[in-house]
Amino acid sequence: MKGLDIGESREEYLMNVSEWTKHKGVQKWVTQMIQMCEPDDIHFCDGSQEEYEAACQTLVDSGTFIRLNLEKRPGSYYCRSDPSDVARVEDRTFICSKKEEDAGPTNNWEEPKKMKATLKTLFTGCMKGRKMYVIPFSMGPFGSSLAEIGIQVTDSPYVVVNMYIMTRMGKKALEALGDSGEFIPCLHSVGVPLEKGQKDVLWPCREDAKYIVHFPEERAIWSFGSGYGGNALLGKKCFALRIASVKARDENWMSEHMLIVGVTNPEGKKRYFVAAFPSACGKTNLAMLKSELPGWKVECVGDDIAWMRLGKDGRLYAINPEYGFFGVAPGTSFQSNPNAMASIAKNTIFTNVALTDDGDVWWEGMTDEAPAHLTDWKGNSWTPDSKVKAAHPNSRFTAPARQCPVMDPVFDDPKGVPISGIIFGGRRGSVVPLVTESLSWDHGTFFGTALSSEMTAAAAGTVGKLRHDPFAMLPFCGYNMGDYFGHWLEMGQLIKPEYRPKIFQVNWFLKSKEGKFLWPGFGENMRVLKWMFERCEGLDNAEKTPVGYLPKKGAIDFSGLDLEDEDKLFEIDHEAWESEVEGLREYYTMFGSRLPRGITDELNALEKRLG
Ligand code: OXD
Ligand code: MN
Repeated sequence: MKGLDIGESREEYLMNVSEWTKHKGVQKWVTQMIQMCEPDDIHFCDGSQEEYEAACQTLVDSGTFIRLNLEKRPGSYYCRSDPSDVARVEDRTFICSKKEEDAGPTNNWEEPKKMKATLKTLFTGCMKGRKMYVIPFSMGPFGSSLAEIGIQVTDSPYVVVNMYIMTRMGKKALEALGDSGEFIPCLHSVGVPLEKGQKDVLWPCREDAKYIVHFPEERAIWSFGSGYGGNALLGKKCFALRIASVKARDENWMSEHMLIVGVTNPEGKKRYFVAAFPSACGKTNLAMLKSELPGWKVECVGDDIAWMRLGKDGRLYAINPEYGFFGVAPGTSFQSNPNAMASIAKNTIFTNVALTDDGDVWWEGMTDEAPAHLTDWKGNSWTPDSKVKAAHPNSRFTAPARQCPVMDPVFDDPKGVPISGIIFGGRRGSVVPLVTESLSWDHGTFFGTALSSEMTAAAAGTVGKLRHDPFAMLPFCGYNMGDYFGHWLEMGQLIKPEYRPKIFQVNWFLKSKEGKFLWPGFGENMRVLKWMFERCEGLDNAEKTPVGYLPKKGAIDFSGLDLEDEDKLFEIDHEAWESEVEGLREYYTMFGSRLPRGITDELNALEKRLG
């Protein structure tokens, strides 16, 4: 493997590290991490293809990776995690701000000094018998004023290869950092040291001790005991959302759990939208939507995270800080998301899906009929008669963004893309109409605060239970959520009024009394995007209702769709909305004095409009 290795002695190491970077802060931090974690070996990642392949080979040699069929899935690998390490662990995720009230009521908090002491005990000697990898990475295109640099230290080669796909990593990131630039230190260990000669397990992790910890004032991340993507690929949720949201608050920008898409109309005019949905609510599907409307086209800039800053012109510009997709596999098919299927045709890492007998992958929802025999995500023989799912509901693919056939060419543009519209969506069987436009920026911010959704398998918890998930940021906001609401209201004031994006709320998941979905979703969502696009163009195709602007009758073209009950898609059930208002009023009490006045005003105004 290329890159630098630790060498025989401390002197040799110090020589290597100073050859690797002249950045004194990085040298110092990495040296401290080595002293604490005591790895047997170190590798400084250069981000080369050769290095990626060597790390994959290490994982194949240890049995953690299985190389998939070269004809069916070239350059791809299969991996099973420990059954206890399959999702983000929200109850083990901490925001350790100096003051508890700055973490707010939606985050777990611990006093930073106390947490550091606990973590130092856990991290001391935790990499014995293992290799430490040092990964410099850029969140965002190199050279972009919107990008940020992180350095992750990890003892997991699985993390290295996933970071290779998910971020722009290696030498170039180090060059972008320079000798004195700001970086976010990201420490990660699976937490399982090895005795001399002890054989490693396939997926080391700690069932008894998981800590995903953020120190917002110090801008540092310490993650222990888990190898799962959302807990261990620290560029993603930990940095690009939790730490970045704090930076964004302090520096007047926005770090959001949002996809970014470009929508082009038949005349060739293009507008960009961002959209926030809770985890596993179809974000990747919307990000790569294959339009069913002739002449209309959707291109993908990002499927999970948007960083948005004000341009000199007073407009909001977004970049996708990531470089790949870490998508939920189940439900992904040539029907639901052909572009995702094309993205994962090669060079992809699959985790916790099922393995076919001919060395390919399968998951529930990929095909109508399951293969006659599989090996399931736990390694057991599986047939369609088996009582368990073949793939874990939160099984994932990690794939390079450039493989997506509808990747927008500006994906790598340091300038970012100007945003016309912001969309919020949740999984709601009733109450929330198919689409609503807010009456103002503040009313749209209120939409974000009011977002709630039925829970999915992306996080440990009760699937199906309705939970408030403001801005789809509940697990990702690195500070007091009440202050975050306030930050949104303030950002609205900073954007030049003529450029202020319109804000919409959508709900693809309405159901009939019999529990049947009322809206076909997927490619047909283009019809709704078209309406939003036209609203941004100033078309008079909406009518004002107590909950916001709804499409005028006929403004969304439903021709050719076999809809069970068109009116139900836009029904406003006053009683249900009144209890929605009551529920929100009660929910907001948890924010106490941190709830901005502007949000209470919006709630009161809604109540009044409902009569
Ligand atoms: C994700 C998530 O992995 O939100 O994107 O859980
Ligand atoms: Mn996500």
